[in-house]
Order: sequence, then structure tokens, then C-alpha cells
Amino acid sequence: MEFAHRSVLLHECIDALAIKPDGIYLDGTLGGAGHSLEICRSLTTGRLIGVDRDLVALEAAKKRLYRHAKKVTLVHDNFENVGAILTALGLDRIDGMLFDLGVSSPQLDDAERGFSYMADAPLDMRMDRDQSLTAYEIVNNWPREELKSILYEYGEERYAPQIAAAIERAGFTVTAHDSLEEWHCFTATLA
Ligand SMILES: C[S@@+](CC[C@H](N)C(=O)[O-])C[C@H]1O[C@@H](n2cnc3c(N)ncnc32)[C@H](O)[C@@H]1O
Repeated sequence: MEFAHRSVLLHECIDALAIKPDGIYLDGTLGGAGHSLEICRSLTTGRLIGVDRDLVALEAAKKRLYRHAKKVTLVHDNFENVGAILTALGLDRIDGMLFDLGVSSPQLDDAERGFSYMADAPLDMRMDRDQSLTAYEIVNNWPREELKSILYEYGEERYAPQIAAAIERAGFTVTAHDSLEEWHCFTATLA
């Protein structure tokens, strides 16, 4: 599948970074490298560190940045480890960082990734497919209190306690699109 993603606020981000041609920049959410390509175009002797959890994204970024390969270091990691990543590269300072948070279009479009309601697909939602923990495991096997916290804190879902309780009570296995439709029906009854 082609990795097609339209970069958000591309020129605004590049302007805000005020790139120095010999500077060192980190893109913590490389994706399809839309932002990174623009950064690279402004670099002469500078360097770009591109980080992503998703190997599919890194592969696509590698292709897109091939003309700038000498300036680019790609890292498969979570950006929460940014300090350790820079230390491992021997860098104690950089000139700018960019984080374009969220999912990429290809992650949504590839049904197998399980991020979209639009297709009948496994409930996966792993950005890093080297990791074993899936959304399926969490929804079906984690305790009610954990589900409640996840829905409340990360989903900002005001019905988090009711939904977590309903999952536990219903005891049905949430698997894929069909189940999610069922799921929408019963969350709608909570509203
Ligand atoms: C919106 S896309 C970035 C698109 C990119 N700026 C472009 O122009 O093509 C977000 C990317 O961040 C990655 N990502 C999300 N959370 C991450 C994390 N905690 N650590 C590293 N990468 C992450 C996703 O895998 C995805 O590829």
C-alpha cells in the first residue's frame, strides 16, 4: 500500500523551526516524512533524526528521504525515549524538534491495523507491531478500573465508568467491526 499522508501545517511548522542549514533537528513522529522532507531540503551540513514507532512508516520515510540519506538517521522507537535516543547518538543538544501527534492516514486506511471503524478487521491498534499488546487484549481482558481510566484519561469519555461497567457486565468479546457496531448501540443507550 502506498504511504499517502498530507502533512498538517507543513509550512507553519517549517517556518516556526527557523531551520539553520547546519543545525540538528529531530522529528519525533516521522510518519511519511512530509515534514522531515522539508526540513532536509533546508539542511546543508545539518542532520535530521527521524523517530517513529511504526516500521511501515520508517520504511516509507526511508524511500521518501533517499536523496537526503546522508543527513538522515532513522530510529525505530517511542518518542518518549527522546533523551535516551539523543544520548545514544552522542548528541547533547539539538536545534529543534517536531511532534505531529496522532495516527497517520495509512494507519487508518490499512484495515489490518485495526484503527478504523470503516472495515471489518482485527481490533489491533498497535503502532509498533513488534509489541505484543493489542487493543483486543485490553478491551477483553483488562480489569474494569483500568478500562475506566483509559477511556476517561485518554479518550476524555465522560461515560467511562458506565462503559467500563457495561463491557464487564455484557461479557461479550469485542473483536471487530460487527462487534463495534453492537458496541455503539449500547454506548448510545448510555447517553
Ligand atoms: C500524523 S503522523 C506523522 C506524519 C508526518 N508528520 C508527515 O508529514 O508525514 C504520526 C506518526 O507518529 C507516529 N507515532 C505516534 N505515536 C508515537 C510515539 N509515541 N513514538 C513514536 N512515533 C509515534 C505514528 O506511527 C505516525 O507514523
